[in-house]
Amino acid sequence: MARHIVAAVHEIPPGGRKIVTVAGLSIGVFNLGGEFFALRNRCPHQGGPLCEGKTWGALQAQVPGQVEFSRAGEILTCPWHAWEFDIRTGQSWCDPARLRVRRYAVSVGTGDAGAQPAVPDQPAVPDPTRVPGPYVVETYPAEAEGQFIVIEV
Ligand code: FES
Repeated sequence: MARHIVAAVHEIPPGGRKIVTVAGLSIGVFNLGGEFFALRNRCPHQGGPLCEGKTWGALQAQVPGQVEFSRAGEILTCPWHAWEFDIRTGQSWCDPARLRVRRYAVSVGTGDAGAQPAVPDQPAVPDPTRVPGPYVVETYPAEAEGQFIVIEV
């Protein structure tokens, strides 16, 4: 893997994104509350430009009419057929009985030599009411290094 500077930190404010081309791959870099995440801009369903999609939160209802909203801005919806992916992990949240795709661990650092892994493969607190789907978009290590965001591809 090689390290690539893809943006100055100020270019991607919290809630923002930038789509870059690295090593011939289109990759979306997202800022979720000061943490950076990088996802391949290719939907594992039919190849749509996933990282151009809208971001949402999660809606859940244990009973009709009692809807709870959480994780604002952390769920990415593919613009082609609206499949949803968790920006933090690349995990899909639909069709849990079908195929799996390759995924990568993501780490975020401050530019120190020993950047800490910040993002596990699964959310820190798994939601027992949700079943992870088999689809996971490819993600890449991303970190803020000084004034720049660096991803490893
Ligand atoms: S190509 Fe993304 S949902 Fe179909």
